[in-house]
Amino acid sequence: MKGLIFTQLSAMIEEQQGLAFLNSVIEESKLPSGGSYTQGGQYDPVEIHAILACMERRLGIPEEFLLRSFGEYLLVSMAGLYPVFFEVEDLKHFLLSVDRHIHVEVEKLYPDSDLPTFEYRDEGGSDLTIFYRSKKKLCALAEGLISGASRHFEEDCSLIHSTCMHRGDPQCTFELSIYDKK
Ligand code: HEM
Repeated sequence: MKGLIFTQLSAMIEEQQGLAFLNSVIEESKLPSGGSYTQGGQYDPVEIHAILACMERRLGIPEEFLLRSFGEYLLVSMAGLYPVFFEVEDLKHFLLSVDRHIHVEVEKLYPDSDLPTFEYRDEGGSDLTIFYRSKKKLCALAEGLISGASRHFEEDCSLIHSTCMHRGDPQCTFELSIYDKK
């Protein structure tokens, strides 16, 4: 998994809990990489689970919640790092561009990346169904990214996670209803 994800996760932990907490989590998680990440590096995705599991133990917040809130944080970071991807007219166009454009460009930039696939059912109007597939099963991260995007575009959005790979389904389904701009 790309170092960018780990550098941002470390930044979030440091911002929210302080450097001493981050260092102690890294030490306690016994990470194969040692935990000093670089943006262009490549790391085993199990490290993300090791870090979050340690935080779950220390803070009493379930890993799934932590991953969702990391997704929200990550979206804000991505908007700062890659503003060009956000130059679209609204939330729906942005979400449709993730698989068709953004992740395609990410793969060109980092040929060693291992990205998820999204398929869409768009019947026009304000509803959009997204089907997420990835062997990493980071659906809580995807949910947080979507919620972060809803905030970025200032469009409220409800999300029903109606099928889930963690429950044995072949893919996760996110059924979205997007409301008018505030
Ligand atoms: C709502 C919007 C987005 C969603 C739902 C989304 C979803 C995801 C998910 C779930 C992953 C984890 C990998 C996996 O599941 O296999 C991922 C990885 C990644 N995404 Fe996105 N993403 C979004 C927007 C973006 C944007 C704006 C960028 C900007 C560059 C981006 C760049 C990346 C990168 C670099 C990775 C790491 C790939 C790797 O580890 O090899 N994504 N994305």
